[in-house]
Amino acid sequence: MSFHVPSVEIQAELFADFKSPTTTRKMLDPASYTGLAGFHKYWGKKPTESVSYLVENLTDEGDVVMDPFLGSGLVAIECLSRNRKFVGIDINPFSIELTSFFLSLPRPQDYYNALKKIENEIAEEINNTYRIHDGRVASHYLWEDGQIASIWLKPENGRTRLEIEPTQDDTDTFSRYQSYEPRNFRNLTFFTNPRINVKPTMSLRDIFTGRALMNIDRIIDSAKSFPPPLKRALLLTLTSASGQMSNMVFAIKNRGGKGKHNGNDTRIEVGSWVIGYWIPKTHFEINVWNCFTNRANKLLKALPNIQPSFRFTTEFDKNGSAFSNDAILLNNDCRLELQNLPDKSISFICTDPPHSDRVPYLELSEMWNSILGHNSDFENEIVVSNAKERGKSKSVYNQDMTEFFQQTIRVLKDEGYIALFFNARDEESWEYLKCIEKTYTALKFMGCFPMIYSATSVVQDNRKGAMKSDYVLIYRKNGTGSSRPFPVGITTIKGWSNQFPEKNRSDREKVV
Ligand SMILES: C[S@@+](CC[C@H](N)C(=O)[O-])C[C@H]1O[C@@H](n2cnc3c(N)ncnc32)[C@H](O)[C@@H]1O
Repeated sequence: MSFHVPSVEIQAELFADFKSPTTTRKMLDPASYTGLAGFHKYWGKKPTESVSYLVENLTDEGDVVMDPFLGSGLVAIECLSRNRKFVGIDINPFSIELTSFFLSLPRPQDYYNALKKIENEIAEEINNTYRIHDGRVASHYLWEDGQIASIWLKPENGRTRLEIEPTQDDTDTFSRYQSYEPRNFRNLTFFTNPRINVKPTMSLRDIFTGRALMNIDRIIDSAKSFPPPLKRALLLTLTSASGQMSNMVFAIKNRGGKGKHNGNDTRIEVGSWVIGYWIPKTHFEINVWNCFTNRANKLLKALPNIQPSFRFTTEFDKNGSAFSNDAILLNNDCRLELQNLPDKSISFICTDPPHSDRVPYLELSEMWNSILGHNSDFENEIVVSNAKERGKSKSVYNQDMTEFFQQTIRVLKDEGYIALFFNARDEESWEYLKCIEKTYTALKFMGCFPMIYSATSVVQDNRKGAMKSDYVLIYRKNGTGSSRPFPVGITTIKGWSNQFPEKNRSDREKVV
């Protein structure tokens, strides 16, 4: 398996899409995450159409926009491409890594050359760890109850995979690598969180086979020899593929239902790693090189030929001008970083804070951060976690979000806006928002509208009572700044209401 030679036609200009204004119709029918937006599976991505609409309607070129809960960083692209300055903050080092990648994309040809170099260096060594009893290279091992049940090979011609019965040789080959001690990963920090199926005793060895760990180490060693933008792109390709490299890949059985093969469809298909750390009894072990190549080819296709060049920094320059660069990306608790920002310096805060117990971001990013060698500040994460030992309850969440608002209001310009993407299944998690207007008289609630997820994008939350859309709640800071009239267009968005979302929120969502 190898890499696709990048096309030399000028097919991809990152900002080609950004030239026409975002219509409300486009916003209410968002596209799924393709291209760069689909490259990584950071949880909680928001449809970019809502962000671009708000940036276009609530700010002017040159204004500073801030997202203090940056996540995947897609909002940074939306702002910078519209000539706004940007401040992004996230406590998750992975978020800053991913956003930095978006702001310093390698050229497709350079990325391709790097991949070919890595291929020459290590592809054969990696494939050798998957050689089966007859010398051919396995693409997949199907594991059932701790035994290799079947080995799959890629056909030389045609599309149908070859399925081979394993022999003792194949089990011996697997065992030879099992005691491998990874060099590049740091230890995982897990809590007792049944929702994502982790315990503190769980280790890398539960999640990956020894040969997967060895092969991931090889890719990391090789990636480290490249200059920063390429190294970052290569390591993010690796983290993006790591779920498929793990023991967490489900085997999908009987998808075709009854009626095939004399009433029983016995075909097995490869599923994917799902949210959490579930290691099914029947799962796949996939050739690490193939997983890496697959992701790399997706990125090769998505990288634009015409590179934007943004000047950004990952440290706040307290002595220099706060916004001398196009963007500042900060990895910290936003409540701390906000203290460094001057009063009334931000025109628009466009953010999607953690939604109570929806996604435990740092716990879930542990595998990626471990591969990248980053440590996480679990203590200061704002979240509601099922891991009781973390003490992240709903009341603590409300206190943390209130503290966040105190700082936020200070840095917002007079007449500046906040757009908050939010939804939560339970009343208690709305408490901090209900108190906002009473506590901070400078803030006026302007109204809200539902933000629709693309029907084809990843399911955000499929638990009982889960919401089909989030709200975009808009606030304006009263003051004496140059008065920007509230855009009338926003009030015509389908589902717009100037009432705070109240009980029976899901009923309102059905109306939309
Ligand atoms: C809902 S997500 C944002 C998702 C983002 N809108 C996107 O499109 O990917 C919330 C983010 O808040 C971050 N976060 C949690 N506590 C934080 C804190 N104290 N300071 C800054 N970021 C924090 C999490 O790491 C997570 O990335």
